[in-house]
Amino acid sequence: MTDPILFFDLKSPARRLRADIEKRLMAILDHGQYIGGPEVTEMEAQLAAFTGAKHALAVASGTDALVIALMGEEIGPGDAVFLPAFTYNATANAILMTGATPVFVDVDRLTCNIDPAQLEIAIERVIAEGKLKPRLVIAVDLYGLPADYPAISAIARAHGMLVLSDAAQALGGGQGNKRIGALCEMTATSFYPSKTLGAYGDGGAMFTDDDARYERWSSIRWHGTDAAKKESIRVGLNGRLDSMQCAVVLSKLTIFEEELRARAAHAAAYLKRLNGKVAVQTGGADDRHAWGLFTVMVENRDAVMAKLKDQGIPSAVYYSKPLHKHAAFAAHAPAEPLANCEWLADHALSLPFHPYLTDDQIDRVSAAFIDAL
Ligand SMILES: Cc1ncc(COP(=O)(O)O)c(C=O)c1O
Repeated sequence: MTDPILFFDLKSPARRLRADIEKRLMAILDHGQYIGGPEVTEMEAQLAAFTGAKHALAVASGTDALVIALMGEEIGPGDAVFLPAFTYNATANAILMTGATPVFVDVDRLTCNIDPAQLEIAIERVIAEGKLKPRLVIAVDLYGLPADYPAISAIARAHGMLVLSDAAQALGGGQGNKRIGALCEMTATSFYPSKTLGAYGDGGAMFTDDDARYERWSSIRWHGTDAAKKESIRVGLNGRLDSMQCAVVLSKLTIFEEELRARAAHAAAYLKRLNGKVAVQTGGADDRHAWGLFTVMVENRDAVMAKLKDQGIPSAVYYSKPLHKHAAFAAHAPAEPLANCEWLADHALSLPFHPYLTDDQIDRVSAAFIDAL
């Protein structure tokens, strides 16, 4: 009987860090500051240092991070917010929760991220229609690969718009000499347990270099109150992350760099074994993939998945439908088809991927996958 191959492995790091996490959680039971304890500010300081962003703010989830970022710019009815149609539904939900209009844009087949040329066309179209004000682009770093921030930022700047990075899947990645969190004006990430830096529950964080923006976010996170938390000075919400989840993230941070190195090594091992037999999500020379997921494109996806399953190998599809085809978002579908989003929805397949894979497991998955093609 060979060891089972897991798609994600959440138990190995828990086993490794158990004593440290227990110690940190016990310290919280001793000091009793369950909300706003020292773990929160300590985690924010470590995340700011890790990403290179001036400010990091802990929030309750990746979705809250997106919503607070949009609220902080007073995005609302009449505003157009551009996003790739090939992403998780939270990206679009956040826009609709503010009352703004999502404008779905096609992606690139190889990077799986928003296509800057299509973004430009979509912005020009909204301007020509004259109904909405183009305000902001949400670039998603799908599967851990940073979007093309130099190109996206140049387009946004030319139109007086801001860029928000939805890096829920990508903390630990980077571009050039910068890390995700410092690649554009605003970044939102998630600590959902299976993310590259996962908590043991929901959580998220936001990053910016701008002092005034950070103050607005801090206020919105705490019901829109002033610094003394007495007076409501704007509309806000309960977007706090509790001390216990921050303690878990602090513990996970002690092994994060090591886990990122393991992810990069496993991706290189898969690439070597798959050796040109299949298209793999690929970025540019300047990109550092965080390898949240390892995703390939296959023609006969259902058959490949079934054959892998027969060999006891899990695989998963992110995402089988582009957002503009979902009932909740269909009213905002563009008139033209988003051909690459639709193609990826039919072809993208993620293979088992986490820092605790062994060489033997990567060999077994690769051999079974090649066999299944
Ligand atoms: C691209 C993307 N955006 C946003 C989110 C939302 O994060 P959360 O689940 O922490 O609210 C997720 C996570 O699942 C995601 O994958």
